[in-house]
Amino acid sequence: MEDEKHLENFQNYVDAEKKIEPKDWMPEAYRKTLIRQISQHAHSEVVGMLPEANWITRAPSLRRKVILLAKVQDEAGHGLYLYSAAETLGADRQMLVEQLLDGTAKYSSIFNYPTVTWADMGAIGWLVDGAAIMNQVMLTRTSYGPYARAMVRICKEESFHQRQGYEAITALAQGSPEQKEMAQDALNRWWWPSLMMFGPTDDNSPNSQQSMKWKIKRKSNDELRQEFVDRTVGQAEAIGLTIPDPDLKWNEETGHYEFGEINWDEFYNVIKGNGPCNRERLKARNEAHDNGEWVREAANAYAKKKKSKAA
Ligand SMILES: [Fe+2]
Ligand SMILES: [Fe+2]
Repeated sequence: MEDEKHLENFQNYVDAEKKIEPKDWMPEAYRKTLIRQISQHAHSEVVGMLPEANWITRAPSLRRKVILLAKVQDEAGHGLYLYSAAETLGADRQMLVEQLLDGTAKYSSIFNYPTVTWADMGAIGWLVDGAAIMNQVMLTRTSYGPYARAMVRICKEESFHQRQGYEAITALAQGSPEQKEMAQDALNRWWWPSLMMFGPTDDNSPNSQQSMKWKIKRKSNDELRQEFVDRTVGQAEAIGLTIPDPDLKWNEETGHYEFGEINWDEFYNVIKGNGPCNRERLKARNEAHDNGEWVREAANAYAKKKKSKAA
């Protein structure tokens, strides 16, 4: 009886567009869903640094190098805010990190694709950060306060990421025939995985409805995906690149683009750990964690020293 009353109050509170804060009562399933979602998001930010870090030493100019370095560093910061947001729900950060390192936690499937040319840096900023923004702008209005507030700051930075990517790929698209070809090839390889970033179709996304009811999510996977396609097609056209989808066409009546079938077998295969770079990413992440051991030790020792001095 007590629980039902609590649940009802909780739902009313959420429906009134009030934010849930860390010390408020919340259903266990709400807490669990958020910990899972926020930690997966944090892992994605952290693993997402790897495909781009791959190009920092090979950026074609100092300007591009500085921009890319700043962008990759931003992603580390996003991971940091998000792990902190997960901690406000009582999650143990050490445990979350371990779940990433031992492969039991998920992160966005997009980061299991290789970055083979410089044009991929443009395509990632333009498409991958562009898709992330669609999702994250929605999350600035999510019902859990700390998550929503982290998203406001993250979105400002993501918008810089998207623009630097579009600018980089525009430069290639307007360059020599070889550069233009490189830009088109990057779009060809990143387009479909970017559409997969929004997750399964609404009929195959069983947890979505509950998340919408709790206002963790505000828009469905298919709605967000459609928004992304509608926004991106014109951007490709503007720089003379072709979206690699023969079924893509404008629908005058709905005011939206129709697009071809997504290869869901590929999506589930990558999620299961069999994408082109899953093993490589986990190995790199584990090595980085091991190599950072001395930094954590030093930071802990310093914190201890400061504490005892203060005492
Ligand atoms: Fe990010
Ligand atoms: Fe980003």
